[in-house]
Amino acid sequence: MSHESGPGSLPVLEDLGDLSGKRVLVRLDLNVPLEQVPGGGRRVADDFRIRAALPTLTYLAERGAEVTIATHLGRPKGKEDPRYSVAPVAARLEELGVKAEVLENLRFDPGEEAGSQELARRLAAGQELFVNDAFGAMHRAHASVVALPRLLPSAAGRLVEKEMAALGPLLRDPPRPFVVVIGGAKVGDKLGLLKSLSSRADRVLVGGGMAFTFLRSLGHEIGASILDEERLEDCRNLVREGSPLLLPTDFVAASPTLELEPRAVAGSRAVESGGEDVRVVGDEIPAGWKGLDIGPATAACFAGAIASAGSVMWNGPMGVFEDPRFAAGTFEVAKAMAETRAFTVVGGGDSAAALDRFELAGRMDHISTGGGASLELLEFGDLPGLKALRESAARGESR
Ligand code: 3PG
Repeated sequence: MSHESGPGSLPVLEDLGDLSGKRVLVRLDLNVPLEQVPGGGRRVADDFRIRAALPTLTYLAERGAEVTIATHLGRPKGKEDPRYSVAPVAARLEELGVKAEVLENLRFDPGEEAGSQELARRLAAGQELFVNDAFGAMHRAHASVVALPRLLPSAAGRLVEKEMAALGPLLRDPPRPFVVVIGGAKVGDKLGLLKSLSSRADRVLVGGGMAFTFLRSLGHEIGASILDEERLEDCRNLVREGSPLLLPTDFVAASPTLELEPRAVAGSRAVESGGEDVRVVGDEIPAGWKGLDIGPATAACFAGAIASAGSVMWNGPMGVFEDPRFAAGTFEVAKAMAETRAFTVVGGGDSAAALDRFELAGRMDHISTGGGASLELLEFGDLPGLKALRESAARGESR
């Protein structure tokens, strides 16, 4: 029942054998947003990742396993900090009918991020089996991700299997044309991915704040738009002839005096109430103006590429979609993703939040629970957590 994923095969729940009465430690990524409850306390604001863990927890419960859940929450940097307690997550799990012990935040211990074998030994004490279903943390070489599979017979959970079933084909043999849509503000975070995709994707559509460093590297005026000076040369090298990268040709820009006002996004049209302060401009941004969304011509071009794709991977918004005056570019991409016949995958984080706002999340083939993990998988073709599970299985077979 194991399924292929790079060299060796990924062990799955069925490979663990009889689970009746077995003590199973389950690593999940229940790093979810919390909100204050009026009158005090905190609760889970979005339980997407908690619900995504239920198939594994149900499988284990139905077979009589005794489950202990371990997760991280936020970045408490190796110190106990009540703001990052997993208590609200444990409460939500209980509401959803999960019966399991929930360990306190793994990242309260500095050994977690350090990949400590000693912490892994403490976690493994008294346990008989290990399941890693924390897809969103699979790119971190942390103790619970890479060291635990060395100590216990281990398997990937159902969520990891599902993520790999969606993302694996994009790595190996994507239905063509394979179109990647990349946005977001920080070009530095995604340069490695863009380099790696340049040889594999048929088209890479670049939007969001990161597009301005590319445009600047080609000599365009970008006004007061976001710029990463240190990446200019990398960007220039990436858009050499023959590159599948496609840059925006127009933008929605804000005047030097415009205040951003995040409001509820009502629908599609963004360039609605900006008056003189919001303008569609070409690929030369006037001095002092700031590009905050791709323009309508670019959005139409990107939508066309998505419509005729065989598969599409999208990560990162096209503009500041929280403000409806700069939401149209992101909305047009989301709508094209919803309407295309291509296989559509969305890489977590802000793009998933945008889809929720536009009420289009249900129209995607797959929304990854791991923003960082799905991008690293696409960039490197493997993740430390997957490799650790495969190696654990290989050790088991040779025993
Ligand atoms: C995420 O939210 O992407 C994962 O939970 C990983 O969190 P991290 O970026 O803090 O390691």
